Amino acid sequence: KPMRLWGGRFEGGPSDALTRLSVSVHFDWRLVPYDLAASRAHARVLHRAGLLSDDELERMIGALHDLERACKEGEFRPTVADEDVHTALERGLLERLGSLGGKLRAGRSRNDQIATDLRLYLRDHARTVVSRLVELETALMAQAEQHAETAAPGMTHLQHAQPVSFGHQLLAHVHAFTRDIDRITDWDKRAAISPLGAGALAGSSLPLDPQAVAEELGFSAAAPNSMDAVADRDFAAEFLFDAAMIGVHLSRLGEEIVLWASQEFRWIEMDDAYSTGSSIMPQKKNPDVAELARGKSGRLIGNLMSLLTTLKGLPLTYNRDLQEDKEPVFDAVDTLLLVLPAMAGLVATMRVNTARMESSAPDGFALATDLAELLVRRGVAFREAHEAVGHLVVWCQVNDKDLGELTDDELAKVSPHLTPDVRDVLNVPGALAARKAHGGTAPDRVRDQLVALREAVDAQ
Ligand code: ARG
Repeated sequence: KPMRLWGGRFEGGPSDALTRLSVSVHFDWRLVPYDLAASRAHARVLHRAGLLSDDELERMIGALHDLERACKEGEFRPTVADEDVHTALERGLLERLGSLGGKLRAGRSRNDQIATDLRLYLRDHARTVVSRLVELETALMAQAEQHAETAAPGMTHLQHAQPVSFGHQLLAHVHAFTRDIDRITDWDKRAAISPLGAGALAGSSLPLDPQAVAEELGFSAAAPNSMDAVADRDFAAEFLFDAAMIGVHLSRLGEEIVLWASQEFRWIEMDDAYSTGSSIMPQKKNPDVAELARGKSGRLIGNLMSLLTTLKGLPLTYNRDLQEDKEPVFDAVDTLLLVLPAMAGLVATMRVNTARMESSAPDGFALATDLAELLVRRGVAFREAHEAVGHLVVWCQVNDKDLGELTDDELAKVSPHLTPDVRDVLNVPGALAARKAHGGTAPDRVRDQLVALREAVDAQ
């Protein structure tokens, strides 16, 4: 007869259909270490409340440790009859302790347990996600340092706009991931609240000590309201937003890498270890890592939508719908931990085709703004300067010339301010170096950013 945690008032057993619908142990089994840590904390509190003797506490803690070992070694496994992780672990405890095992459930419900387990799991794994983000940032920064001086065509609307330092562009992605890390760090403050002690929803009549449990489990405080404690899944939804945002950032970086690796761009060459081939076309080298980063952002966004949709309209407090919180959360963590190392490796090992990038940096009259700004420095209203340079561009297009190839006469015809020395600003390194105000693409500013970002990353 399968062991259930709620058999007392039922005469018949549950139908197979209900059992199959209800079971969650196939996905919540990963909460074992957190559930057992919370159980140890609860056992100590029961002991201090005089509800477990010294000897009972010792045997209880010993059995919980042994159960953890047995789970880790695969010696203790959930059976098809175990509804969830809590049911399975109580069975394990009863197997080890007999009736003493049944004492641990006093003052505790699966409702406050599961909320506690999920918070513990997420706070733990959020730290791992941050470490993987730092590794990706480190890879981006190493490339940025190599390419602070490398000019690339800077784009808006995917059209050549103005030359930029390729390092500057890579660091733009690092800033996005740094905000993601900040978000997770900030999230953790709100996630660090312990629901244990709330019981099913109303707290317990037993003299428990939720603050002591909170402290033992590394939380900053116990939940101040037992109903909120078991109903609240903000921490999961907020984490899923952070994960979705990371997904969006990975997707945008992934899309850029797909473009850069294309025959049309040829800005980078991917390392063999981070690219794939075709089963039919022998010449192919595909950016699957970047594409999967782009593709998997869809499920990260979907996980957030899934949980928000589950939560909306739920009355207080615990409802079984809340069991649906776990798969999106686990999937988000798993997805990030798959994608981040692959992207870090792809970025760290890609070879940049500096010559190709630099030679196309001025293409598409990308230095036209530099010319217009020179005229402004000579007292011309920007409106007129914009117009004059616009004329030059059309003239160049019609005559198949570059701005730098115009003769003195051709320049003078458009504006008296276009003297021969204006050609001095028509060079890419000059255009980069000139953008030297805070936040600009000048290589010196890129190096400043690197110093500041490295400090920020080290502080994380
Ligand atoms: N397995 C449930 C969950 O994941 C926790 C158990 C609470 N079940 C209940 N019938 N109150 O949310």
